[in-house]
Amino acid sequence: MTTRSIKDLLQNGQLGDAVTLNGWVRTKRDQKTFSFINVNDGSTMRGIQVVAQGDAIADYDAVMKRLNTGAAVQIEGTLVESPAKGQQVEVQATGIIILGEADDTYPLQKKRHSFEFLRTIGHLRSRTNTLGAVFRVRNACAQAIHQFFQERRFLWMHTPILTASDCEGAGEMFTVTSLNLNQLPRTEDNAVDFSKDFFGKPAYLTVSGQLEAEIMAMAFTNVYTFGPTFRAENSNTSRHLAEFWMVEPEMAFCNLIGNMDLAEDFLKYVFRVVLDQCAEDMTFFNDRIDNTVLATAENIINNQFERMTYTEAVALLEKSGQSFEFPVAWGVDLQSEHERYLAEVHCKKPVIVTDYPVGIKAFYMRLNEDEKTVAAMDVLAPKVGEIIGGSQREERLEVLERRITAAGLPKEDYWWYLDLRRYGTVPHAGFGLGFERLVQFMTGMTNIRDVIPFPRTPDNIEF
Ligand code: 4AD
Ligand code: MG
Repeated sequence: MTTRSIKDLLQNGQLGDAVTLNGWVRTKRDQKTFSFINVNDGSTMRGIQVVAQGDAIADYDAVMKRLNTGAAVQIEGTLVESPAKGQQVEVQATGIIILGEADDTYPLQKKRHSFEFLRTIGHLRSRTNTLGAVFRVRNACAQAIHQFFQERRFLWMHTPILTASDCEGAGEMFTVTSLNLNQLPRTEDNAVDFSKDFFGKPAYLTVSGQLEAEIMAMAFTNVYTFGPTFRAENSNTSRHLAEFWMVEPEMAFCNLIGNMDLAEDFLKYVFRVVLDQCAEDMTFFNDRIDNTVLATAENIINNQFERMTYTEAVALLEKSGQSFEFPVAWGVDLQSEHERYLAEVHCKKPVIVTDYPVGIKAFYMRLNEDEKTVAAMDVLAPKVGEIIGGSQREERLEVLERRITAAGLPKEDYWWYLDLRRYGTVPHAGFGLGFERLVQFMTGMTNIRDVIPFPRTPDNIEF
């Protein structure tokens, strides 16, 4: 007899089916002559109820003694109608094998645990209802992302994790070296001699796959990359990770409008798929984490996003009458409190802010005719703020050279990037979606550390 997932049993099981299932014991309630055991295998939020009758199970008393919360079990039995409310079927056990015991030091005994505490047991927290739901939604979300781009014939490419160039030019990169840190080779002027390092020059973990995606877009027109990216920014916030996943489409023959349209279609599509595939988990988030989750999802799917320029956004913030911690003025970068005011309070839905001042955005963004702003777009979402950052790219060689120099970046390092503007340059655009910010936005989870299995943040790299 093949083992079936609990999700399959609950959805497709027929009364009378002889079944074998595996899982971990969530709870056990002993009655006089029988026990109720709730078993969960991660395939679904609700586990399945197993009824173990004293006279049906060999060595009943001894087995029940060892069968504690957290233990791994294999159950054989028959699917029967459940008299309990909230479930249609349960398993009448005929055999129970304890595959792995758990004693009463198992930290996930039946009670509410704070997310802070759960982070300290990152190796066990996936067995809780909330984290289970988060990681199922995360999975559906990743799958929907690929589906969206594949349906549109975007080429999925893999950008490197090790790189020599700083895409964002923000100097927030982790250095990768094989040098002996206790005996660093030095140049004559006492700088570290990276010519002796593995790559013969400084190397880093990538902050974004964009520059390489641009290379590929100049051959395949529409491409995307979806992978881990790294930022050594010392931001201890509920929205920043040192390692996060980013989805980055890049489109040749595309301008800022096309870029915005794609970003909006993309978010709507992913929400629709996840709502459809993870209805139970999404309802759980709505009931237990944030009671606006389902309304927000419907709102995303059914309404057009707001669009406004940075200049309009600043004017709005200035006359909002709000006292912000960071004052706003044309030219300053928007802080998360500003982003949230715009999306959450003013628009009450996502808003795409475009045409930011040239001084606060990366060197590759296309300079607008006013020479004061660039063709940038950020999608700001209620609660999480910036969820997508993108732009039309500077395709004009001379302008790009000027921008690189003005940003204080070494032009030599970008020779290949500049070559793309020498050979068959075209208007092109793309964006980066912070995958964890999307999962946060979808689930209503307040801390980004609780939507990635193993968060990396300042002073934290356990598990
Ligand atoms: O706005 P960012 O820095 O844009 C880029 O890296 C571009 N090269 C993307 C592109 O155009 N291809 O980052 C993109 C998104 C942000 O909007 C945010 O959602 C997320 O990545 N992000 C982070 N998520 C978690 N932790 C961090 N430290 C993040 N930094 C950025
Ligand atoms: Mg950004």
